[in-house]
Formats: sequence, C-alpha cells, structure tokens
Amino acid sequence: MPATPVDETPVDTVTEVPVAVVGAGPAGLMLAHLLGRAGVPSVAVDLRTRREIETTHRAGILEADVARDLVETGVGDRILREGHEHTGTELRVAGRPHRIDFRELAGASVWLYPQTEVFKDLADARERDGGTVHFGVRDTEVLDVGTTAPRVRFTAADGTRHELRARCVVGADGSRSTCRDLVPERHRTRHGAEYPFAWFGVMAQAPSSAAELVYAHSAHGFALISQRTEAVQRMYFQCAPDERVEDWPDARIWATLQARVAGEDGFRLTEGPILERTVLRFRSFVQEPMRWGSLLLAGDAAHTVPPTGARGLNLALHDVKVLAGVLVRALGPEGEPALDDYQPAALRRVWRAQHFSTWMTRLLHTPPGATPFELRRQLGELDCVVGTRAGRAYLAEQYTGWPSADR
Ligand code: DHB
Repeated sequence: MPATPVDETPVDTVTEVPVAVVGAGPAGLMLAHLLGRAGVPSVAVDLRTRREIETTHRAGILEADVARDLVETGVGDRILREGHEHTGTELRVAGRPHRIDFRELAGASVWLYPQTEVFKDLADARERDGGTVHFGVRDTEVLDVGTTAPRVRFTAADGTRHELRARCVVGADGSRSTCRDLVPERHRTRHGAEYPFAWFGVMAQAPSSAAELVYAHSAHGFALISQRTEAVQRMYFQCAPDERVEDWPDARIWATLQARVAGEDGFRLTEGPILERTVLRFRSFVQEPMRWGSLLLAGDAAHTVPPTGARGLNLALHDVKVLAGVLVRALGPEGEPALDDYQPAALRRVWRAQHFSTWMTRLLHTPPGATPFELRRQLGELDCVVGTRAGRAYLAEQYTGWPSADR
C-alpha cells in the first residue's frame, strides 16, 4: 500500500495531552466529560461546526440508565426539567393499538429527550469545565496509532495549525469515520447489512397526537410518531432509499402518515406545517477490533445500527462510559494492558443492539417486493410479539436497554 503523504510542516502549537478525541458529537464530548471528571485532560476536534451538529436532528430516546448517568455526572438536569419519562410505547398493527408497558413488563422506562439537546448540554458542560473542543477543523490527520505516541494534526477554524501529542487517540467520528480506516485492512473485519428502504423524517409544527411513541406497521408501510415539544412533533415513515424530498409537499406527507396510522379506533394525527424533511438512509455495521494500538473506536465509528428502537446514541454512550474507565486505568499504574478490557466490555452490548435494531426494523417494515408468504409470516410474528406476554416483555426489555457493566 502506498504510504499516505504526511504534511510534516511546522505547526503553530504542539500540545501534549493524554487523550485526543476525534469527533465532538455526543460520544466524543461525553468521553471528554467523563475523563475530565476523573482528572484526565483531553482535547476534542470535529470537522463540523457546533451549529451544524446542533441542527442535525437525530433520535430522541434515552435509556433510563443513560439519563441517570447524564444526571449523576452533572449534565442531565435539563432532562429532568424538559424531558419526558415514557413508561410504555404503542405498537399499532393493522390499525389496532397495543400498548407495551415497559414498567410492568421490564420494570423500566425511557426518556424522550432529543440527541441534539444531549449534545448542547455536553458542549455547554465542556465550556463550563474549561475543556478544550475545536469545532470546524479541517485537514485532520491521525498519525502513529501503531505506537504509544500517536498524534493528531489539524487546522483550526481560524486557520492556525495544531498538533496534539497524545497517549491514546479515540475515534468518535461517527458513521463516516476515517479513524476506523487506520486499523490496517488485514487486521480488521467489517460486518454489515443494507436495507431496501429508508425513513422519511419530518418535523411538524403541531400539537402532539399521542402521549407516547407510536410504532405503526400497516399494509402501506411503517410509520413512527414521536414528539419534540408541545408545538413541534417528530415523525418518520418508510420510503425508498432514493426518495426525493422535493416530491413531498405537506399534503402528501400527511396523507401518507394518516393512512399508516389509521385504525378502527379512529386515531388521527393533528396536522400542521412541515418545518423540515429529510431522507434517512440506514444500515447495520460493525468493525472489529474496536482497538488498534493506541487508537480506540467508539460509537458510530465502530458500529452503526438502523434507527428503529433508537439504540444508536444509547450504545455510543455506553461505549464511552466503559472506555473512560479503561483509559483512566491505562493512563495510571496499570498502563497499556488495561486497554485490552475495552472491546470485550463494549462488544457484547454492541451485538445485542445490532440484533435488536435489525429485528425491530424487520418486524415493522414492509420490504419492497415481499411475497404474500413473507407478509403473512410477518403478521404472525407481530401477533407473537403483541399477543403474548413473553413477546411484549422481550420488546420491553430490549427497548429499555440492558444494565450497563457497572449496574
Ligand atoms: C425517535 C427516533 C427513533 O429512531 C426511535 O426509534 C424513536 C424515537 C425520535 O426521533 O424521537
């Protein structure tokens, strides 16, 4: 393989820091936050501006344990004030509502609190605690990860050049990670699956139509009704991966959503202007190993799940919780061998989440070209889920998350 040319021209600043974090989304910032609390300095960089990250809508469901971790570490008081605890969700099958009672079935709940807000809380906390985060950087290069002296070089938003000399580099650079490419090809395995459908996501200016989330399976395809504020709602419906947002005026969006949730109970969505529309393609992906030399991958950089069930952020925050503990040990008397503990502790949950997200996606979506057998089988499966206590309990347990390593 030809060596990548490295720009070794002098930089404006060289900073020695135990941990350099590439990616300052929720995973990167939560890691920096947890390390900071343990007295370990870090510097985080991100290609995107703070505004770009804040305005990219993502999922909105936090496991109760994740919410508790945010609260207990001082970045979650807004969750308690502005978030909403949900003790169940509705599965609508062929227009019939079935409540999955998380509390009764799994002794658990989740919090509706959007990922963009988690990000804002973490970015504010970094500022408040004096942590260094560079947003809007370019020309990022991660070097020497096969050694114990890795470096990150980048151009800051103001055009100045910087080099971080670290003990460890964390790749928390999301589903289009470049850090993961630094694990040499012959030492890595990539697992994945593509889906023949996508989600059409909208923000609608309207009062909420349901107190809890509604996941709808219908002959017309999947729809998900979620909420944001009293005046703004988040909704998704299954579409083709190459769907064009220009082809979807408000009336067509509402007709599609209404058809997918309609039922004998007369349920209807309260309509209003569509504020935003996006097509969200998705896939399943895992790269192993999650550690190579002094590089550790966390969150979407190491694994991506389809959005059904909202596992992505929860999984990323679990990774960094485990990773923060491992890094603190590795930078102390235990040294580098402690890094070996990261992957086994993170990966079990990664594969559970891969399974659950894939399962819930296949359970609720109608694949194009599905045979009548496949459609009838799927209705049989849905009947097993909503029509038996074990089925409902399975969904409730997986959806609300698994106890983390330390709980
Ligand atoms: C939301 C997104 C999801 O993928 C999901 O399963 C539940 C809720 C949301 O954006 O609110």
